[in-house]
Amino acid sequence: MTSTVITGIGELVTNDPAHQEAGGLLGTLERAAVVVEGSRVAWVGPAAEAPAADAQVDVGGRAVLPGFVDSHSHLVFGGDRAGEFAARMAGTPYAAGGIRTTVAATRAATDEQLLSGARRLVEEMLRQGTTTVEVKSGYGLTVRDEARSLAVARLLTEEATYLGAHVVPDGTTPEEYVALVTGPMLAAAVEHARWIDVFCERGAFDADQARTVLRAGAAAGLRGRLHANQLGPGPGVRLAAELGLVAVDHCTHLDDADVAALRDSGTVATLLPGVEFSTRQPYPDARRLLDAGVTVALASDCNPGSSFTSSMPFCVALAVREMGMTPAEAVRAATAGGARALDRDDVGVLVPGRRADLVVLDAPSHVHLAYRPGVPLVAGVWQRGRPVLGAV
Ligand code: NIG
Ligand code: FE
Repeated sequence: MTSTVITGIGELVTNDPAHQEAGGLLGTLERAAVVVEGSRVAWVGPAAEAPAADAQVDVGGRAVLPGFVDSHSHLVFGGDRAGEFAARMAGTPYAAGGIRTTVAATRAATDEQLLSGARRLVEEMLRQGTTTVEVKSGYGLTVRDEARSLAVARLLTEEATYLGAHVVPDGTTPEEYVALVTGPMLAAAVEHARWIDVFCERGAFDADQARTVLRAGAAAGLRGRLHANQLGPGPGVRLAAELGLVAVDHCTHLDDADVAALRDSGTVATLLPGVEFSTRQPYPDARRLLDAGVTVALASDCNPGSSFTSSMPFCVALAVREMGMTPAEAVRAATAGGARALDRDDVGVLVPGRRADLVVLDAPSHVHLAYRPGVPLVAGVWQRGRPVLGAV
């Protein structure tokens, strides 16, 4: 196995608890080096103590951090909804019913079109430092269209999520549709998916329906996650906590009991600030969650309706400016937080033995991700130990 030592790292974000005493929340090291061997990190420490390796790369004082872990996206779809966005910016409120527009376009798309569209977005994410991404189905809503959406997702990531329970499609009753989602559609989904998700919200699925879908998924071997409390208060967050789900996503409208339930269950609250940006809604209160001891993740929710951004640096900037997070908290939520939300311990950290997924910033510190919003700061990306983007 060949090894490479990356030197000249001005600031290294490790997210390693062993470095937190001196390096704060992100476990940062200054004037550091990383040795990569095969697909894994082999060594992390001060540059002056770095062991020899087969090859050397000098990043010239730049900051290096773990690749972003985007734990929530919907990349498999046809068409776009730019017109709906423009109307929204002119005053029309966001409604989950817009999902049906994308469902029609997705059903009309070929497998090749769905794959090339999703692949383009994964590549766009990679250029912005995302090295792990979760991808949901949910714009097919027939057995055939959910299965082929998941087959596409699975070609692009090991984190594919079955979201047949996104909305009830036209021409069927909620009861009939839940029976389909938990029956033949689930049977067709399981071979491709690791997770099952439900949009638990007024106008989509209620708590009883969500529980039924998640139970059926669990019986088929899929792990549960939820979309909840996005458009208004509701039972979804407490349901996620009660079921001990690894993560519940959106969490925009929370009362004290919701926050306490998240704290007590350890369920990760995944916040998706691109949604509030693109729907002109109030942002979730990340400060309140963090102060209560809840684990917070940040994700893009990249989808053609409520949040058509693929950029984790943009989400970090929004979280800092609009949600009361410090730059360190936001970067942690976008890396280690996302990994927690996917129950992964091999990504989101730069620790010996873990996956060598890392981002080189054209900046001296992680703070610049929020301090320089909208600037393409990602100078290089390494994935599974290989440079996949940029000269550094
Ligand atoms: O996560 N909330 C439900 N689903 C997506 C929105 C999908 C759409 O508007 O197309 C979300 O925001
Ligand atoms: Fe979503």
